Amino acid sequence: MRSCPVMPVIVIDDLETAVPLARALVAGGIKVLEVTLRTPVALAAVKAIADNVPGAIVGVGTVVRPEQFAEAKAAGAVFAVTPGLTPKLAAAAREAGIPLLPGVMTPSEVIAALEEGFDALKLFPAEQAGSYAMLKALGGPLPQALFCPTGGVTVESAPKLLALPNVGCVGGSWLCPKDKIAAGDWDAITAIAREAAALGGK
Ligand code: 3PG
Repeated sequence: MRSCPVMPVIVIDDLETAVPLARALVAGGIKVLEVTLRTPVALAAVKAIADNVPGAIVGVGTVVRPEQFAEAKAAGAVFAVTPGLTPKLAAAAREAGIPLLPGVMTPSEVIAALEEGFDALKLFPAEQAGSYAMLKALGGPLPQALFCPTGGVTVESAPKLLALPNVGCVGGSWLCPKDKIAAGDWDAITAIAREAAALGGK
């Protein structure tokens, strides 16, 4: 979370785009990459990036089944992100030995995640959860939790979120516009990444 101010939420539809997309993001200074397990080629994309993109720190997102942690690790993922947390997912992440950024949305879910040993958490879906106001409010009673708000975050809203003491980074899909990927416009993606990297970090 402290390696980059923004973690791109990546959806790979065409495996051929995985490596050039990751290279474009890394060239722009965004090296922590969350490849979502939402498409049939996602794990192959993780492997391709892990094997071919020096400097990339590639993980998986949208993990919702316990067995996906070991599959992701075998593909080369070095971290995992979930949209929510259950005891089964927490145990499976621990068993697979892969660092997990679990999703939470309420104070009780934050406390449950802390009880499971996680203090770096994804606020998801951030916009619907209250985003800045929610994070500020959580920082009072639960200052030990560090958040990566994701869902509805934009390059415009990110700076205010990043200024909060309990925000380590933000997540968003805006760094990987589908039309730019389809067009192979990697320079455009590097420019977007550069702008995101310049938001600074902790
Ligand atoms: C997602 O799950 O797709 C992420 O929350 C990204 O949300 P965004 O498209 O609003 O950035």
